[in-house]
Amino acid sequence: MEILTCKDYSAMSQKAAEIIASQIKSKPDSALGLATGSTPIKMYDQLVEMHKDSLIDFSQIKTFNLDEYCELPQSNPQSYYYFMEENFFRKVNLKKEQIYIPNGVAEDLELECVNYDNLIDSSGGIDLQVLGIGNNSHIGFNEPKDYFEKNTHITQLDESTLEANARFFDDNIEAVPKKAITMGIGSIFKSKKIMLLASGESKAKAIYNTLYGKITPTVPSSILNLHPNVIIILDEKAASLLDEQDFKRV
Ligand code: PGA
Repeated sequence: MEILTCKDYSAMSQKAAEIIASQIKSKPDSALGLATGSTPIKMYDQLVEMHKDSLIDFSQIKTFNLDEYCELPQSNPQSYYYFMEENFFRKVNLKKEQIYIPNGVAEDLELECVNYDNLIDSSGGIDLQVLGIGNNSHIGFNEPKDYFEKNTHITQLDESTLEANARFFDDNIEAVPKKAITMGIGSIFKSKKIMLLASGESKAKAIYNTLYGKITPTVPSSILNLHPNVIIILDEKAASLLDEQDFKRV
């Protein structure tokens, strides 16, 4: 595992965008696993800028998003599909056929989960998976529980996740969907490379627990210690509880 610390959110985002750009350069038809939330927004901005400067071409890639709320159609501004359109997809050369996001309003949600894992597998698997991390150490929407859920599944969101995400719903916790579809820990783990991003003081404890605690499903991100190809990119605040010798400043 490689752990890099950048001076701030902007530098973290730039580093993450550079890693995506070099992935696409070395394999133009890469499958990227993508994340939503506040953390990757500036990384997407940087990728859009690189695209405008003709430094990156998305025409052959495929994208698979980690998760989606149940009950929100793609047209709902709070859906993750909408988020991705607004922040990234519509600003670069990506066509609809290249984009996969679980459908939170599928008639048969269980089937949607099975189909999603099959789609990822049949595309050859994810080359580079981007992750954020929840204050409760969730990755995707894999919430702390007493076992690691392997496959894409429907999950009940933790109270702490509902609280954290209420900011996207006019601070109205009641408006946050209580369920979501998420790639499972096994689905994430099959990715050839994983890049986890964390910024800000509110993530420091989750990062500390990920790196220094036991590998346990009550800290879902702790499983990343077992993956052979993980890079964690932090800003100073997210790295504030780590020993200086455990990361590289970039
Ligand atoms: P955030 O969410 O980027 O909005 O902090 C990350 C997550 O919950 O995985």
